[in-house]
Amino acid sequence: MVDLLSHLGGDLRRQLYDLAHAARIRTYGRAVYLRGLIEFSNICKQNCLYCGLRSGNKSLSRYRLLPEEILNCCREGYALGYRTFVLQSGEDDWYTTEKLVLLIAAVKQLFPDAALTLSIGERDDECYSRLYAAGADRFLLRHETASANLYRSFHPTMEYENRQDRLNALQRIGYQVGAGFMVGLPDQTAADLAEDLLYLQQLQPDMIGIGPFLPHRDTPLKDELPGTVEDTLDMIALARLMVPDALIPATTAMGTAHPNGRERALQAGANVLMPNLSPMAVRAKYMLYNNKICTGDESAQCRFCLEQRVKSAGFHVDMGRGDSLKHLSRS
Ligand code: 5AD
Ligand code: SF4
Ligand code: FES
Repeated sequence: MVDLLSHLGGDLRRQLYDLAHAARIRTYGRAVYLRGLIEFSNICKQNCLYCGLRSGNKSLSRYRLLPEEILNCCREGYALGYRTFVLQSGEDDWYTTEKLVLLIAAVKQLFPDAALTLSIGERDDECYSRLYAAGADRFLLRHETASANLYRSFHPTMEYENRQDRLNALQRIGYQVGAGFMVGLPDQTAADLAEDLLYLQQLQPDMIGIGPFLPHRDTPLKDELPGTVEDTLDMIALARLMVPDALIPATTAMGTAHPNGRERALQAGANVLMPNLSPMAVRAKYMLYNNKICTGDESAQCRFCLEQRVKSAGFHVDMGRGDSLKHLSRS
């Protein structure tokens, strides 16, 4: 794998993207699934070196949406056709298990035909089980990097072993699980990226989120170089080949790194887009990295914009729940 990664370029790269494209056509055809993303709190107790939401960033203005505001985002999203809602936040303990259970139950009661995805970080088994019982269907928890050394250097407040243990717990409980990693972290080598791909092959997650590392001005990594679109596309294509039935988003970070980054990801094996449904007033505050796109656009604008982008890339939007094939074959 390391040898392959160090020789990727020109023709070989095109062949890799073509193979990944063929694999995605075999599994999901030309469908691109849309998920409405609601960033409901930018408060985080962790301190990841790369992230603008890190607790050490004192210049960020913090917000937390209340359950009723979150439900309003879902109402707007449902009217725009979304049938998956992704509730994402920093690791914010104000949102206790009890509060989350009530919120999840309310979303599922109002929108029984929609899937609900959580992306709220590490919690204990009991919490994960109760959220699942309340109706949450899916959970995104990127492994961030499979290298123990890198993981430890970027996550002063978290444990390498816990991360993968939490992913195993989520799978055991029955969630459709999403893992994933950043490409181009400072000091990340081809061997580290190979580890990420082998980890995914072993975990066999339902979803795989891969994006370039992008520096944020108020973090310790502010002067580091960003990850490249090309390296990230390589990882997306290889992930598609190694976990052919995974759902793989063309991430917002890809769209931020390059104006056509998301379209290129779709053509290298990705098959999901996650447009923003958060209220306009808070969007600019969910700043994981600088220059994040879609912070000035209405939800309806993103919905329309994406439809055009998907078509121009040669695919079609599918507004269904878009469950993973892996999950459908399990149930
Ligand atoms: N650049 C790119 N991705 C980032 N994330 C956090 N900070 C950055 C950054 N500076 C990613 C992490 C996290 C996801 C929500 O966003 O992988 O899991
Ligand atoms: Fe918090 Fe997630 Fe950012 Fe880490 S990456 S500081 S856990 S929001
Ligand atoms: Fe948000 Fe294009 S996807 S404006």
